[in-house]
This record gives sequence, C-alpha cells and structure tokens, in this order.
Amino acid sequence: MLSYIIKGKTKLSGKAEASGSKNAALPIIATAILNPEPITLYNIPNIEDTRITLEILKILGCTVEKKNDKITICSKNMNKTTIPKELMHKLRSTVVLAGAIIGRFKKATFAFPGGCNIGARPIDLHLEAFKKLGIDIEEKDDIINCTCKEIIGKRIKLRFPSVGATENIILASVYAKGATHITNAAKEPEIKDLARCLNSMGAKVYGAGTSEITIFGVRQLHRTTYKIISDRIETGTLLCAAAGTGGNITIKNANPENLLTVLYSLKEAGCQITLSKNSIKLKAPKKLKAINIKTEPYPGFPTDMQPIIGAILTKAEGESIIEENIFENRFKYADELSRMGANIEIKDKKLIIKGVDNLYGKEVMSKDLRGGAALVIAGLMSEGITKVENIEYILRGYENLDEKLINLGANIKKEKVV
Ligand code: UD1
Repeated sequence: MLSYIIKGKTKLSGKAEASGSKNAALPIIATAILNPEPITLYNIPNIEDTRITLEILKILGCTVEKKNDKITICSKNMNKTTIPKELMHKLRSTVVLAGAIIGRFKKATFAFPGGCNIGARPIDLHLEAFKKLGIDIEEKDDIINCTCKEIIGKRIKLRFPSVGATENIILASVYAKGATHITNAAKEPEIKDLARCLNSMGAKVYGAGTSEITIFGVRQLHRTTYKIISDRIETGTLLCAAAGTGGNITIKNANPENLLTVLYSLKEAGCQITLSKNSIKLKAPKKLKAINIKTEPYPGFPTDMQPIIGAILTKAEGESIIEENIFENRFKYADELSRMGANIEIKDKKLIIKGVDNLYGKEVMSKDLRGGAALVIAGLMSEGITKVENIEYILRGYENLDEKLINLGANIKKEKVV
C-alpha cells in the first residue's frame, strides 16, 4: 500500500502544467478499436487508468507504442472481442470499450464494470441504448454478451444525460446503417473531444457538447493524429490546493472555458481569478468565504470537484452547504475530514460545513479517487503531519500529483507501506 506523508501549512505558489484529461483519454483510446488504421494521440496522461486501458487493448490484439504523452495504437490485427473480467472490474470506463468493439466487430463480451465505489453506478442506460441500436444482449451471471448482424441508426432518448452511455452510443454508431440521434445527451467537454477526435478520422458526429447529438454512419475511418484536451478536474484540484493554502498559482495548458462553474465558485469564495486562453491564475484571499454548491451534469458544478471544494471549505468563514445530485455515495471523505478537526454534518444528499480555524494532521484513508485528492488538500491545509493511506486510488487519476505539488512548494512525499 502506498501513502502520502504531508507536512502542512505551506502556501502553494508558482506555476504548474495541467496534464491531458483522464476522462477524455479513455473513450478516445477506445476509438482506436473502431479504426483499423493506426492513430496517434498526444497529451495522454501517464496514470493507472490509461495504463489499464492500454493493457486491455494489447490483450485484444492491438499494438501500442508509447513515448511520454504520445501513443500510437493500431488495431488492424485485433482478433479478440472479449474484455478480460479482472481488468473490467478495475475500471468503470472500460465499459466504453464495449461500444467500440461492437461498432467494429458486431459482437462483444464483457463483465459489469468496476471503478470507484461512489454509488450504485448501473449500466442500464448503456444496455437499453444498445438494444435500440439492434444489438442482442444476453446477461449470464456477471457476463454480458452482445451480438448483432448490423447496427441500425435510431433515435435514442436518454432518461439521464449519462456521460458513459452517451460515449458508448457514439462509439457503437460510427459505422451504423443510417443515422443515430441522441436526445438528452451528456454535454461534457470530454464528449466534444471524443467527437472531434472521431471526426478527425472520418466519422460524422454532429452536435457533441449539446444535448442533441447526431451520428451519421460511415463505411470507413482513416488514420489520424489527435491531441486531447487538458484535464479540467486536475486543473480544479491544483487551483483548490492553492486556494486552501492561501497561495498564488498559475496553471498552464488549461482550458478555462471547461471549468467555468468551478472558477465562479472559487471567485465567490474570495479568490482572485485571472484567465487567458490557456492559463488560469488564482490568488487566494487571507480567509475563504463560505459558499453553496450543487453538483449537476455539465455545465453545472462537476461532481468530481465536489470533494475537492468540500476540503477547502472546511476552513472558510461561515457555513457552506454542498448538495450532491449525481452519485449517492460521494461523501465518504467527510468522516476523515471530521477526524482532522473539520465541522461537517451529512444530511441526506447534503454536507453542511461550518468553517473552523484549523485542521490537524492525522492518519486518514482515501476511499475513492477524488475523495483521496480532497484529503491531500486537507493535509496541505493542516497543522502538523498528515498521512493519506491507500493513495492507489489517487494514482489512478492524477499524473505526478506529488511532483506537481512539490514544485509549488508543498512538503509531500510518497511512502510504501509493506
Ligand atoms: C463519468 C466520469 C466521472 C464523472 C461522471 C459524472 C469518466 C471515465 N468518468 O462517469 O468522472 O463523475 O461522468 O460527471 O468519464 N447512471 C445510471 N445508469 C447508467 C449510467 C449512469 O443510472 O447506465 C447514473 C449513475 O449511477 C450516476 C449518473 O447516472 O448517478 C451519472 O453517471 P454517468 O454520467 O454515466 O457517469 P460515468 O460515465 O460513470
């Protein structure tokens, strides 16, 4: 097990660079399965989630060449359509590989996905959409077997704008006969990025980034080189690390327009924010002000930033209320923050945070990716030493988080516990 040891109370200052987006990289890597021609991707973050996804592609028969943030994938000789159950269980986003495999081979076998335990996370919307597209689905124990003669474009109305289901429908429909029209689609920037990447290889996906997306089926795709967007959640995490420690930082390689609700909330909390095309500058006030947050599908406040902003509000002036509307089990970090001295009460889907003057370093446990990052930030804001255990969760989604924080002046190191 790995831990971070953090000595708190340093104001973070300086410059950091945002890495490529985890949530864009995963479905974009899946496009390589659809396309038998080689594709080259830039800005792929070097994190556990992309490593596992690339490992699955290799097992399926793809070649993968990786050099720093550049990878070239070729699925010309791909000969398997079953995603190994153990790897599927490690990572929820593997479910979008299914849409790409069915899209290309008209069959796929996979298990119910795993990933962070932040709620029930069913895949009913994905499977209902597959059925609409003419795909037969057999479920036995934990295994799902999909087959079809042809994918037929259809009108699909999502009951909820699920990010993964929207991505899966797009991937499955690229070679469909006719057009697929999604209404109530998720509007996240990562979906826009997926569509842009697919279109760069000859697909015809229109409307991504809005709630209505149309995919006109094409016969073939061609090779492409594509650079993915930067990670808005990592950017928000680093900004909050500075906001919580009274710091002053600039994040480069950022896409401010993808993070507007978070930037607005930080401004409301008293931070000075300066934007340019690709960078965000934040200067924290002496003391943050309490604010209220409600998580919502994009462009609302992102659920992934909820634990991170929760951590910094523990020392804000006044009472903040955070309402979580996407995942029902995303407050597990709150108990750990209470042990560090925070005044937090959970009431159904709300967290009520009364700001305190100080947090105190403790041994705490990360229980999911963003909750773990929230504890790191709380450690940076605390008096004394904090040990954040089980950081394997954090390493799934943040590239070199400790190095980036050290460059900003933090006192943090990784420790292996045997
Ligand atoms: C993606 C992101 C995750 C983010 C989330 C919401 C990736 C790899 N992960 O996850 O970081 O927190 O979007 O912005 O991109 N739901 C169903 N049935 C389904 C699918 C979803 O009921 O078939 C529900 C979920 O339980 C949840 C809500 O819809 O309550 C949102 O889930 P969804 O948008 O699908 O999230 P993910 O794609 O899993």
